Amino acid sequence: MLNQTLDKTKTKKNKIEVFGLGYVGLPLAVKLAFSGYQVIGIDTNPERIQRLDQTNLIESELNFKEEFLTCKNNGNLLFSTHSQKNENSKIGIICVPTPIRTKDIDPTIFVKSTIEKFLETSKEGDVIIIESSIEVGTTDEMKKIIESKGFKVGQNFGLAYCPERIDPQNKKWNLENIPRVIYCSDDITYEISLQLFRFVNNSNLYRVNSPKIAEVVKSFENAFRLVNISLVNELAILCDKLKINVKDVIRAASTKPFGFMPFYSGAGAGGHCIPKDPIFLLESSKKFGTEFKTIENALQINNFVPKYISNSLENLFKEFGLDKKIILCGMAYKPDIEDMRDSPGFKILNELIQKNFDVVIHDPYFKEELTEKYLKENNLEGLKINVVRDLDDKSIENFKGLCIVQTHTKTKARLEEIYKNSLIPLIYDCQNSIKNDFNSKTILKLLGD
Ligand SMILES: NC(=O)c1ccc[n+]([C@@H]2O[C@H](COP(=O)([O-])OP(=O)(O)OC[C@H]3O[C@@H](n4cnc5c(N)ncnc54)[C@H](O)[C@@H]3O)[C@@H](O)[C@H]2O)c1
Repeated sequence: MLNQTLDKTKTKKNKIEVFGLGYVGLPLAVKLAFSGYQVIGIDTNPERIQRLDQTNLIESELNFKEEFLTCKNNGNLLFSTHSQKNENSKIGIICVPTPIRTKDIDPTIFVKSTIEKFLETSKEGDVIIIESSIEVGTTDEMKKIIESKGFKVGQNFGLAYCPERIDPQNKKWNLENIPRVIYCSDDITYEISLQLFRFVNNSNLYRVNSPKIAEVVKSFENAFRLVNISLVNELAILCDKLKINVKDVIRAASTKPFGFMPFYSGAGAGGHCIPKDPIFLLESSKKFGTEFKTIENALQINNFVPKYISNSLENLFKEFGLDKKIILCGMAYKPDIEDMRDSPGFKILNELIQKNFDVVIHDPYFKEELTEKYLKENNLEGLKINVVRDLDDKSIENFKGLCIVQTHTKTKARLEEIYKNSLIPLIYDCQNSIKNDFNSKTILKLLGD
């Protein structure tokens, strides 16, 4: 049966269902549809389906707008809230979110429910490729679910785990050129995956022979990043005390041609991956009666950095006798994206409110109508948020300080202008990016300097 699926994949005769049309799923669905496959993008959020049906794309989706329009117009890309029956074999690609395990939440909840939905209309020869980040052991669990429906994984049903590695806004590495790790239940499923990924990353797949390897690889890669970000952020805190610039240290250390890789300090790692996926490894360690202290420490440091920044701000405002009125700039977790999930900006905001600061936020990507969603994503439901839409002279005149958490390209020049023209008494730059100008009357404090 899988042989026939392979033939159909080669001739683009089978349907592909991409589940979860977020940052990962939508670009993939568009890529495959644009290459000639019949793709149904499935999302449980009806508003998202309606938005995509109406070609109402958000900023991060604009870079594939033309491809999106082409395949929507030629009928290769359809959207639905449900999986559908198909006379030919189906390939389901799972790109749904994976929450962190809590007392009440099982991180596989969405992957599991998606696979169960897919199986309702499945038949022999179908294939499931999981791309979501998952806890160790999840692929085997999914195999059991598939087999409970009477299929034999590796014989008449294919299962693969191919973790997504996308780094939004990375100018060099994107969907098309990032190599991927893949586990496949059998050789034919691997052939099918190679065939599909031809149109994604030129079949640049590194096959591993155990699902656990692929699962650990994904969490370990992100743990590597989290640990190094925490390492450099702790170094920045030390550099504050030593009164040396952390960037000078990193630049000098980077001259070592081996055994060193530069990471730059900031307000802490955020987003849906870096602070989350390492927890999957931590959980596995606990489950097997061992520890992962490096990850535990890195997570602690990551939570501490926003506290350190807000304490520093409190001290600076006190030292210079300033009214506690501040603008927080850059609420997304990284530059030039609209993703506000688990973002250090929100942690700093919360800390400053606790310290009785009068805080307003500014981020060109912040949509006030989504405030509730952002607060939920940052576990800060109920927090009152005041937004300043522009950083023009009038809007900022009553504020005594400005904290740059992220510098988006859209705001960079204006922030520099505010500093150069001394339009605000104090600037705290978590990105360590504003160049000292002795003509400015603004007090400039860089994190790690
Ligand atoms: N965003 C990234 O940069 C990135 C990078 C690598 C890996 N990942 C991983 O990829 C997965 C998806 O991440 P994302 O950032 O695209 O998430 P996202 O929140 O942007 O999108 C997920 C989508 O899935 C939908 N959804 C939820 N449950 C569903 C279900 N049962 N069936 C169909 N749709 C459902 C949601 O409505 C949402 O639209 C996660 O596991 C994430 O950890 C993300």
